[in-house]
Amino acid sequence: MRNLFIIFYFFSCISLIACSQSDKVQKTDSEVEKKIDDLMEQLTLEEKVHLLHGKVTTDTPLRFESGGVERLGIKQIEFLDGPVGIRDFDPDQKTTALPSTLSLSCTWDTDAASKFASVIASELLYLDKHVLFGPGVNLMRSPLGGRNFEYMGEDPYLTGTMATHYINAVQKHGIAANAKHFLANDIDRLRHFTSSNLDDRTLREMHLMPFEMAVTDADVWTIMSGNNLVNGVHAAENKRIAQEILKDELGFDGVYLTDWRAAYSAVNSAFGGTDMTLGFGAYVYGDGNLLEAVNNGDVPISLVDEKVRRVLRLYYRTGVIEPETRGTGEINTQRHHDIARAMASQGMVLLKNNGSILPLDTDNQAKIMVTGPAADIVPVGTGSSRVDSEISITPLQGLREVFNESNLTYLPYQEDELDELISGTASHDYVLFFVSGGRSGEGMDMQSLELPGNQADALRQISAVHDKVIVVTLSAGPFDMQEWIDEPEAILSGWFAGQATGQAIADVLTGKVNPGGKLSFTIARQLNDYAVHSLGEWPQKPILDTPPRNAPADPKQRVAIHGYDLDYTEGVFMGYRWFDKESINPLFPFGYGLSYTTFKMEDAGLDLQSDQADKPQATVKVKVTNTGDKAGSEVVQVYIGDPESSVPRPERELKGFKKVWLNPGESEEVSISLDKRSFAFWNEKIDDWDVEPGEFIIEVGNSSRNPAFSKTATIQ
Ligand code: BGC
Repeated sequence: MRNLFIIFYFFSCISLIACSQSDKVQKTDSEVEKKIDDLMEQLTLEEKVHLLHGKVTTDTPLRFESGGVERLGIKQIEFLDGPVGIRDFDPDQKTTALPSTLSLSCTWDTDAASKFASVIASELLYLDKHVLFGPGVNLMRSPLGGRNFEYMGEDPYLTGTMATHYINAVQKHGIAANAKHFLANDIDRLRHFTSSNLDDRTLREMHLMPFEMAVTDADVWTIMSGNNLVNGVHAAENKRIAQEILKDELGFDGVYLTDWRAAYSAVNSAFGGTDMTLGFGAYVYGDGNLLEAVNNGDVPISLVDEKVRRVLRLYYRTGVIEPETRGTGEINTQRHHDIARAMASQGMVLLKNNGSILPLDTDNQAKIMVTGPAADIVPVGTGSSRVDSEISITPLQGLREVFNESNLTYLPYQEDELDELISGTASHDYVLFFVSGGRSGEGMDMQSLELPGNQADALRQISAVHDKVIVVTLSAGPFDMQEWIDEPEAILSGWFAGQATGQAIADVLTGKVNPGGKLSFTIARQLNDYAVHSLGEWPQKPILDTPPRNAPADPKQRVAIHGYDLDYTEGVFMGYRWFDKESINPLFPFGYGLSYTTFKMEDAGLDLQSDQADKPQATVKVKVTNTGDKAGSEVVQVYIGDPESSVPRPERELKGFKKVWLNPGESEEVSISLDKRSFAFWNEKIDDWDVEPGEFIIEVGNSSRNPAFSKTATIQ
């Protein structure tokens, strides 16, 4: 089991090596601002406007680029997707396909987020690009959301924390990260016409929070507006959320750029806070449109200047100007593959393991049957996050690397030949069934949580005749398990696990890696247990007689339309906050995940350094001991609840967490700090964060429903 630690140490070193490449990027802010002042003097109005939009290129391979000033020797800035690996358009240039960021969030490991992001940054450096379109930090409001696999689960604090480490690691390399899609862009179908309608408290406590943390904790260099509307106004043209909140209030000093079809009018976008229009909306500031607005007096030159300064700041930060400051990076290497493999195994969540059937012993001569629709494929999400990797190891291939060929039988899954499959199980000691979740990707949402085809039926029937069925699921996110959950002996959820899928699965099934992943979202018994479905708020509702269906790319046909409403009536009671409020028993709660070892958390104390409501400060201390016989990891999770408050508040909310790695018998004391924001809610009456005096319940445990102990903090 020391393997786990060796792998961990090895990847820590890799991360250090990768980071050292970026140490070259060191310019002080004031130096850069002075250089920007000089450049501003030299630029003509036309050149300034040219810096503020992308261009539609027909080059092959396709390039995402913008700006540049040839006269001054300033190159164009170049962008690429995306959050789970680089989508390069050159078919000959293969890149590393990492697991989904949803999988990453299930590691609950901030170091993992840094390593994951370092791979992406290093590949972008190698390709000489400047901006990464990622990470995605929208919340999983419904398990049906098509892009959930690109996000980091249902909790704003977990998302914001993982994103902060991801962004820091990317930007350390002099590559700009991009927090997307601002804001409340959690339904993907018809997103261009859909208004996410939410009150200030829901916005602040839930959907804004990961973006806020990206700005205040990670100083993110770019943010992408969603294609959607927020409270009736498209995000790219929404002065309230972008100009006033993001820039004026939170102090975002980077570039607010548009998603591919997010902007419509040059004047509205300029006042709305947009600095750069990209994609199919490049023409909004391009094609002479912004220039005309300035010349007409509709957009003041000072506003253009303010945007240009931001863009030039980005040019300096990413080495578009002064490229000699850039590191070199590497691409599609064995090291990156090894990280992809380690990340995939660490993101896997062991949901069930009756009688410790797992891990499997590779040395004994047990006969293993491998089947299921995902046994010999590597499921991935579609759309802009799709990565074209050279390597793609299926579960079957991964298992063949570790099990003796003669002990492994592969029976391809054929829906109409279930009987043969079932009779085939009899001659095997174990059945490994690989479930494939529904198709998921950009521009779509899932229609239901049901597993495609007859998989649920097959699982029930196989489990009825065989008592050692192990299920491995590869999916975008959660799906319906209620019907067959009791049948198999073990369930391991692997999500979209990237190019090393098969090896990572083999690592976990054989115990080379002890699973330590925890759910970053709730798995319900049924769809209607989730808040938005229970309240009938999903999908969006048409508000026009003939609501639009398609978003044209052709500028002549594009009109900003508010065609649908998506109301956030659940307020802050989303995800586990809703299950707690309604006393619904989930199938697997937020924060849950098993290990091959066991842990004990002991109450080590609560130190309340300040009990003053205007500035509370506390430290929770807990002693974690590995009480089993294998090395492994546990996640200490701290939740806070305010039972008596002037507004309804969730019973518990995640406010701190820490992952620890322990050998058998080893203990560690973990300290987690809590501050004003840990106790506060957004008080709409005063338009600010507020802590109400009284008693707060602080729970410490290894899931949202399994507190090891709780403490009371009295705030004056
Ligand atoms: C997606 C973005 C992506 C962009 C560029 C858009 O359609 O919504 O997430 O970054 O395309 O590929």
